[in-house]
Amino acid sequence: MKKSILSLIIALSITLISNSQNKQENISTTASTKIDKKVDSLLGIMTLKEKIGQMNQYNGFWDVTGPTPKGGDAAKKYEHIKAGLVGSMLNVRGVKEVKAVQKIAVEETRLGIPLIIGFDVIHGYKTLSPIPLAEAASWDLEAIQKSTQVAASEAAASGINWAFAPMVDISRDARWGRVMEGAGEDPFLGSKVAFARVKGFQGDDLSAVNTIAACAKHFAAYGFAEAGREYNTVDISESTLYNTVLPPFKAANDASVRTFMNAFNELNGIPSTGNAFLQRDILKKEWGFQGFVVSDWGSIGELKAHGYAKNNKEAAKLSVLAGSDMDMESYAYVEHLETLVKEGKVDGALIDDAARRILKVKYELGLFDDPYRYCDEKREKQVIGSKENIDAVLSMAKKSIVLLKNEKVSGQESKLLPLKKQGLNITLIGALANDNDSPLGSWRTSADPNTAVTVLEGLKQYKGNTLVYKKGADVAIGEAAFINEITINTTDKSEFGEAVEAARKSDVVIMVLGEHGYQTGEGRSRTDLNLPGVQQELLEEVYKANKNIVLVLNNGRPLAITWADEHIPAIVEAWHLGTQAGNAIAQVLYGDYNPSGKLPMSFPRNVGQVPIYYNYKNTGRPLAYEDKKMVFWSHYGDVENTPLYPFGYGKSYTDFSYGNLILDKTEISVTGEIKVLVDVTNTGKYDGEEVVQLYIRDLIGSITRPVRELKGFEKTTLKTGETKTVIFSINPEILQFYTANKKWEVEPGDFDIWIGGDSNASLKASFVVTE
Ligand code: NOJ
Repeated sequence: MKKSILSLIIALSITLISNSQNKQENISTTASTKIDKKVDSLLGIMTLKEKIGQMNQYNGFWDVTGPTPKGGDAAKKYEHIKAGLVGSMLNVRGVKEVKAVQKIAVEETRLGIPLIIGFDVIHGYKTLSPIPLAEAASWDLEAIQKSTQVAASEAAASGINWAFAPMVDISRDARWGRVMEGAGEDPFLGSKVAFARVKGFQGDDLSAVNTIAACAKHFAAYGFAEAGREYNTVDISESTLYNTVLPPFKAANDASVRTFMNAFNELNGIPSTGNAFLQRDILKKEWGFQGFVVSDWGSIGELKAHGYAKNNKEAAKLSVLAGSDMDMESYAYVEHLETLVKEGKVDGALIDDAARRILKVKYELGLFDDPYRYCDEKREKQVIGSKENIDAVLSMAKKSIVLLKNEKVSGQESKLLPLKKQGLNITLIGALANDNDSPLGSWRTSADPNTAVTVLEGLKQYKGNTLVYKKGADVAIGEAAFINEITINTTDKSEFGEAVEAARKSDVVIMVLGEHGYQTGEGRSRTDLNLPGVQQELLEEVYKANKNIVLVLNNGRPLAITWADEHIPAIVEAWHLGTQAGNAIAQVLYGDYNPSGKLPMSFPRNVGQVPIYYNYKNTGRPLAYEDKKMVFWSHYGDVENTPLYPFGYGKSYTDFSYGNLILDKTEISVTGEIKVLVDVTNTGKYDGEEVVQLYIRDLIGSITRPVRELKGFEKTTLKTGETKTVIFSINPEILQFYTANKKWEVEPGDFDIWIGGDSNASLKASFVVTE
């Protein structure tokens, strides 16, 4: 009912506006599209309070489907929705709940403007894909986009129309718990993944019932928290900001991401939420971002704790001036913006601009045509958990696994993996091997607990071998927010003996060790990157009894597994792989899928090397300067500079060789292009996939350049014995960087290029860029 009155008013005012505009021959560019016109018309009939209402977002967590909430925050929020003072809700999900809350906004408010419903759709909705860091390890952009589509379709079927994802924060610090949520340490890979994820959520038509708005977060530099401690201060150079932090955000904007979320951290002294340089100058002006910026949870209010605003009123003023369009759970906008405008401290045009941006996304989502378009119970049942979605996340999980090591054990003919399908006695050890909750990882707020396939269940499907399971030890969880039911146990070794005895009698031991899914994610920084609890001791005890160990790691961040690398013949990085984890791992261990993942983050030898990353600067006293007897070069006295496993690294059951590196020219101008050709051959016994990687070094720069930078990659499938020629283009887009002139430029000079299967690639050529 409300909807049709609103449509009438809008239609009438569009006619009036276009008539008067025709007369004045003054058609504003903002009204150039149909949606813009509708938004302008709607703004024309909204009060200041209602516009501010659009800029206010509340968390759900109360039952709107039952009797009217009474008392406290819930009652206040409910009254605010009815008064048209709320533009968005988060954490309301499921058709029934979303419909109920939407009904209040649409049918009980003066204008009936629908809510936009946001949710943390981080790696799937109910059917979970691997954590984002694991997906990035696939280097398979098509697969990542597909997996995000699956997430979008399930969330959309559940009433949600806005994902707080992708997180595109680059991080070089494995101590930071949220590395699990991003694409790792590299801006080039991070940008490609950001683009794919935005496309996956939004598709080509935002109003389709299986697409939702995406949100690039956290703007900006959240991944550079000092010492990897969550929410900590960020102090980085302009060059790092432009050349490392911003590119994935820019890529998300290039993919037309509809929203950005700002960040909890301060950046060089100014909190991101109140940072006009980031949000107004770079994002909205330089990049021309047309969508809206939402604050992070309570981050407007947090300007007080940062020591940047005296009170919520000042925080509201600073945030809106800085370009934060929507307030997530600070109550600062709804309580203070009206007064600030009336006092002349905030220009009403800024409120119009913010409300316009928000309303536009709602129009694009089709919410004005049908506010209940995401609320179809039949679709909800059909889409969520469908066979198609389960198959898709299984496929993604297999692609995300990285084979770190695979060697022969003395006396054996072949490498330990893949496992033979007949005649083996296998012992499976580790609490994580029989855990159907941990593989769901962090940020799986909509998945039902305990719904992952365990490794034990996955392996049981291979019936030709005997399989014995022993827990050995629990995974220790020091702090387990939100998960009281999980054992906190760091010392109990009482089940070691049984596990060791079973291992002694078996041909192969599979040990699943690492972090629980809840040991990573927001608020879960760690200073220790070793296997938590007594798992390392368990590994060493079992090793004494049987050296034929396959170590399967479950983790959401790089771990320091130096001892394991020295002793254990086969190591498989299996992250937190989501709903189908156990099946994916079993299929890889048995060779039904040949692993093809490559690390998106360097693995340190120990935590003291962190932050460690492949694209470091050479320094004035680099490794090449080294005389091992000397002290005065850039190094540690107790451990090498190199990581345990470098960025881009990952093995296959087959082998690949590289050759015939050809550049069609070795000299170009700053606008020129070089075609690079390389032959890749599968020289091993299995068909497989290789991620062919191209790195460059700009030898001299107006700002020093990293020793290597990833500038191209292609994932290619090769049958055994097959050779393929992979072609890359070196062009201004990849050669440019943010120079000392504060511009994106290609600087003339000498460049080196390497191609290979990881960031230590050795096949090398050089070229020159002239003026
Ligand atoms: C805080 C997190 O930093 C952000 O990423 C998330 O989207 C919001 N909470 C909402 O849950």
